Amino acid sequence: MKFNDICERLKVLLTEKRYIHSVNVANCAKEMAKLYGADEEKAYIAGMVHDCAKYFNKEKRDYYVDKYHIEMDDMEKRSGALAHSVIGAYVTKYIFEIDDEEILGAVRYHTTGNVNMSLMEKIIYLADVIEVGRDYPGVDELRELVYSGKLDEALLKSFDNTISLMIKKGNTIHPRSVAARNFIIEEMQKK
Ligand SMILES: [Fe+2]
Ligand SMILES: [Fe+2]
Repeated sequence: MKFNDICERLKVLLTEKRYIHSVNVANCAKEMAKLYGADEEKAYIAGMVHDCAKYFNKEKRDYYVDKYHIEMDDMEKRSGALAHSVIGAYVTKYIFEIDDEEILGAVRYHTTGNVNMSLMEKIIYLADVIEVGRDYPGVDELRELVYSGKLDEALLKSFDNTISLMIKKGNTIHPRSVAARNFIIEEMQKK
């Protein structure tokens, strides 16, 4: 699918607000790719498509899970917030026809993070939370870390923020988020 057609499809799949968020993530990801030496075009594309499955209802999620034989754990099956990134990777691959492991991984893990994240995965995860439209306590600290070359510190800070918020709200925490945090702490201790 041509990039312009993907954008047109996204305008249908997303709310206007979410589409603007996607453009913001794309621009932020491109900037970060330049700073950290990743592929700027891929970063932009991944940013644009990352939330493509955000507004799928349970029925539509089940349809795609069945159609593409998507494997998800019980928590992911129950939660649209978790499932949209996993299903989004399949929509990106099979509907947008983007068969690129870097982009697909970045879409897939943009909500929970993962152990041993690639540079592109880190970029999209962080661009999602620091794009220009985001406004929450601590976002400027994250931006400062990202733009001063401290990508892993920013990632850990963001994991901490998310996990703390989940605890505060009394929500469950996906094990992949905990594993991602443990992994990055151990990586940073090795350095
Ligand atoms: Fe998302
Ligand atoms: Fe997002």
